[in-house]
Amino acid sequence: MAGKALIPLCRPWIDETEIEAVSEVLASKWLSTGPKTAQFERQFAEYVGVKHALAVSSCTAGLHLSLVAAGVGEGDEVITTPYTFTATAEAIGYTGAWPIFVDIHPLTLNIDVTQIEEKITPRTKAIVPVHIAGLPCDMDALLAICRRHNLVLIDDAAHAISAEYNGHRIGSIGDLSVFSFYATKNLATGEGGMITTNNDQFASVIKPMRLHGIDKDAWARQQDRSIWYYEVTSQGYKYNMTDIQAAMGLCQLMKIEKQREIRKRYAQIYTTCFRDIPEIITPQSPSQSVEAQILSRHAWHLYIIQLRTEQLEISRDAFIDMMREANIECGVHYTPLHLFPFYQKKYGYREGDFPHAESAFRRVVSLPLHPVLTEENIHEVIHAITEIFAH
Ligand SMILES: Cc1ncc(COP(=O)(O)O)c(C=O)c1O
Repeated sequence: MAGKALIPLCRPWIDETEIEAVSEVLASKWLSTGPKTAQFERQFAEYVGVKHALAVSSCTAGLHLSLVAAGVGEGDEVITTPYTFTATAEAIGYTGAWPIFVDIHPLTLNIDVTQIEEKITPRTKAIVPVHIAGLPCDMDALLAICRRHNLVLIDDAAHAISAEYNGHRIGSIGDLSVFSFYATKNLATGEGGMITTNNDQFASVIKPMRLHGIDKDAWARQQDRSIWYYEVTSQGYKYNMTDIQAAMGLCQLMKIEKQREIRKRYAQIYTTCFRDIPEIITPQSPSQSVEAQILSRHAWHLYIIQLRTEQLEISRDAFIDMMREANIECGVHYTPLHLFPFYQKKYGYREGDFPHAESAFRRVVSLPLHPVLTEENIHEVIHAITEIFAH
């Protein structure tokens, strides 16, 4: 395979449009939060079908602000999944609350909604599900639990831009939803995030909080000619988005449906070709019910296969090494959080606590899936996997 170019796991889809848009902002000399951020928020809200979209510096920051707005604080409990990136539970930790993990469904890899209610206590304030890989969680069940127990539903939508559940875009269903625009995400601005909500009260609390708790940002003051005057009205954070990021975000938003179509087509090619390889479990489609199947869609941020390692002579790690030798980059999403030293030391979690998350972790491999790849690249990945199983 010497000389063959690397097939990367993920790459942002950037062309001249983004470069020109960012250059325009640089030329305008207004670099931080300003007109581009406001435009990005308006267009993002319209795309998602939600009342408010509030741009922030990252999804982690957005999760933190959403938890604070939901009234989560010291000594509270927030239910979430251990099968996620550390940012989800880390943001809960910022508030002084405890992340209470609930195991996942072994095939969807999303939080197992049937196990949530037994973990609810008088201290529980919110539930933070994660739409893993872009597969929508069972939002009807989650909303029903939240309404029964008076909890706030904050969905971590880091993977889920363009995903839909029962005909509604993710971002328009939960009480608060938070997206990530990190460099590898389906909509990438380098770093960045967006909080969406239909709740006016949450929006009005979060708006000043993302910029030092100041009532009027610098752009608004510039428009008013009251350049120096502002009030600090609440505890704030430095979590605002820049116009440089927003200019990129606007270009990426224009391409989001096209990007999803390409990801979906590549995912379908993988799934069709892997039907003949019994050692591979392919990802689930949204399938809560027949209607949900018709009206829901996957964002295909990641294509995660599970290897039936019990039927194989090689381990998951050896498989990834063999793919690397074939110049194909693979990933592992995720090491369950309760296996990390920090979560064991701080919260007392132990190996064995969440068997489905642990079993998935030992079997999962994320394959390259992004629009910078060609269909030929996808077939090269399939060929390399077929070769590994043939031998
Ligand atoms: C599930 C999930 N939640 C949260 C985050 C944090 O996103 P950000 O880097 O924008 O803070 C990520 C980032 O990879 C993620 O995958």
